[in-house]
Amino acid sequence: MHFAVFFFAFALTGTTLALDNGLMRTPPMGWLAWERYRCDIDCENDPKNCISENLFMDMADRLAEDGWKELGYVYVNIDDCWSSKQRDDQGRLQPDPKRFPGGIQKLARYLHDRGLKLGIYGDMGKLTCGGYPGTPLDKIELDAQTFADWEVDMFKYDGCYSNATEQEQGYPLMSKALNATGRPIGYSCSWPAYQGGLPPKVNYTQLGEICNLWRNYGDIQDSWDSVLNIVDWFFENQDVLTPAAGPGRWNDPDMVFWTQLPHLHLHLWFKNQSEGQVEMLVRGPERLATVIQSQKLCYISWSLSM
Ligand SMILES: *[C@@H]1O[C@H](CO)[C@@H](O)[C@H](O)[C@H]1NC(C)=O
Ligand SMILES: *[C@@H]1O[C@H](CO)[C@@H](O)[C@H](O)[C@H]1NC(C)=O
Ligand SMILES: *[C@@H]1O[C@H](CO)[C@@H](O)[C@H](O)[C@H]1NC(C)=O
Ligand SMILES: *[C@@H]1O[C@H](CO)[C@@H](O)[C@H](O)[C@H]1NC(C)=O
Repeated sequence: MHFAVFFFAFALTGTTLALDNGLMRTPPMGWLAWERYRCDIDCENDPKNCISENLFMDMADRLAEDGWKELGYVYVNIDDCWSSKQRDDQGRLQPDPKRFPGGIQKLARYLHDRGLKLGIYGDMGKLTCGGYPGTPLDKIELDAQTFADWEVDMFKYDGCYSNATEQEQGYPLMSKALNATGRPIGYSCSWPAYQGGLPPKVNYTQLGEICNLWRNYGDIQDSWDSVLNIVDWFFENQDVLTPAAGPGRWNDPDMVFWTQLPHLHLHLWFKNQSEGQVEMLVRGPERLATVIQSQKLCYISWSLSM
C-alpha cells in the first residue's frame, strides 16, 4: 500500500503554470547535508562529517566519480549552519571562514567543473532554524544577489522564526528577487510545511507559479518510521498533491524515493535496517548504491530543519 505514493509524482502534467526560470523540468535529484550531518560544526573533532567545504567537495567527488551524475544526481546542497554568525561589513551573508575558507563561489566552481550544481540554504526569519543569520524581508534582494554573485544554482528558503504574514510576502518576493538577478536559480520553498501542507491554507496554484519545489510536510528523520510516516501522508493526500506537481513545480517529500516503479527489494532492504541506518546513500554501503543505480531510482534529498 505504501507504494502507491511512488506513482504520483509522474502521473501528472496538467495545464498549470510553472515558475518561468526554465529549471527542474524533471524532479531535481542530488544530495543534501541535513538529514545525516545536521548542524555538526565541530570540524576539530569531527573533520570528516562537519558542515564544511570539505564535506561538499567530498560529496561532489562521489556524485561525479561513482556514477551518480550520469543518472541525474547533480545537485549538492548545503543546508543550515554554513554561514558565519555575523554578516560582513556590507551587510552580506558570509560563510563561516574556518569551515569554508575558500568561500562559496569557489565551491560552486568546484562543482560546476564536475558538471554538478550547488544549492544553498536560507531562512525567512531573523535567524535560521539553527540560529544563523536569516533572510528577513528587508534582506531578500541583497541575499538573492549574493547567491547569484556566488554562482549558486539552487536556493532553499526555510521558515523558522517567521510568521504567516511575513511568509505570505517573503516567498513571492524572493522568487522575484532571484529572477531579477538574471541567474537561473532553482527555488525551493518550505512555506507549505509551515502552513500544514494542505489547502485552503496552502495555495498550490500560487506555489507552482513562484517556486520550483516545496516542502509539504515534516522533516525526514533517520528512521524507517519517519519514512513511512511521510509516505503515508503523501499517500493520504495524493488527490490534492498530485495535481500540484508538474514540470518546473514539484512536491518534495524530503528525501523519500520517487520512482516510476514500485521497488520491492529496496523497500525490504530499508525495512530491514534498524534505527539510525536510513542514511546510507552516497557514502553508504556499495551494495545499496549499486541497487539504486541499476534501478534508476530517483532520490530527492532536500531536507528541512524545521
Ligand atoms: C524571469 O522571469 C521572466 C518572466 O517570467 C522569464 O522570462 C525569465 O527567464 C526569468 N529569468 C530568470 C533568470 O529566472
Ligand atoms: C509578524 O512579524 C512581523 C515582524 O516581526 C510583525 O511586525 C508582525 O506584527 C507579525 N504579524 C503577526 C500576525 O504576528
Ligand atoms: C491561489 O493563487 C492563484 C494564483 O496566484 C490565484 O489566482 C487564486 O485566486 C488563489 N486562490 C485562492 C483560494 O486564494
Ligand atoms: C532482511 O533480513 C533478513 C534476515 O537478516 C535476510 O534474510 C534478508 O535477506 C534481508 N532482506 C533484504 C531485502 O535485505
